Amino acid sequence: MSADYNQLLDATIQHLEGLKSRGVRHVAVTPETLRALASPVRPAAAVSFKAATPAVAPRTFSAPAPAAPMAKPIAAPVIAAKPEIAPVAFIPPPPVADKAAAFAALRERALACVKCPNLAAARQHVVFGVGNIDAQLMFVGEAPGADGDAQGEPFVGAAGQLLTKIIQATGLSRAEVYIANILKCRPDMPGQASGNRKPTPAEMETCIPYLHEQIDLIRPKVLVALGGTAVEGLLHKTGIMKLRGQWHEYRGIPLMPTYHPAYLLRYQAMAEKRRVWEDMLQVMEKLGMPISEKQRNFFTKA
Ligand code: URA
Repeated sequence: MSADYNQLLDATIQHLEGLKSRGVRHVAVTPETLRALASPVRPAAAVSFKAATPAVAPRTFSAPAPAAPMAKPIAAPVIAAKPEIAPVAFIPPPPVADKAAAFAALRERALACVKCPNLAAARQHVVFGVGNIDAQLMFVGEAPGADGDAQGEPFVGAAGQLLTKIIQATGLSRAEVYIANILKCRPDMPGQASGNRKPTPAEMETCIPYLHEQIDLIRPKVLVALGGTAVEGLLHKTGIMKLRGQWHEYRGIPLMPTYHPAYLLRYQAMAEKRRVWEDMLQVMEKLGMPISEKQRNFFTKA
């Protein structure tokens, strides 16, 4: 796909996300646009060109334009929709056959992203995400650290190793779940080689459409938000201490906020580790995973 196509798609998605975050729930679209949005995107390769007859030269055929990004510009938002204006419906994830391709296209767009020029200039890698795109369980963290930036994979440093242990303690492997971050680039640290900083609200708002699309494609049964930034990004709520351990919902998907593994490493308090494990037990229950006595009593029997 061309850079222009990607830019147009990104701009459209960002515009809609921006409207949504400002509380707009309807946009005015023409019936023609709606029809185009509802029709499947057909890649050029899938278009079957009949053998050209003498009367019709092959050049007169052109593959249908991809529906969504090429749709007519969206008119100004309206809060109270007129009867003839249909609300934008939730579009269910595409069938599995298209999912890998859609995911790959999304990844391609994210890897080429330069919407935050400072982050793009400082990064070694765009850290898109890792794991099973059919995962039932998806973890969302804050942003890549120095190790993740160097390796192009989320959660590979000390916090990542702890996350891997937590995942394995449930009986799953890292490869069976999906792991991503609110930000795909490491927050730059001007003048410093090491250290981390929290993403700015502007960086989060700019980057989060990629995560929304990842979640919409994966459609995990359960999301785990690791730490305050992940909760803020996905739920627009603050206060991880109060929010953790309770079920929330992100676009119809049960979401469990819990502490970030880096927090556990910083404080090393057994009580906090136990809380995270209790949150994970709730996640396992929600997923219908078997829970052994040993797992249940990890922190109750020393
Ligand atoms: N590494 C990540 O990928 N995300 C975090 O939130 C922390 C470390």
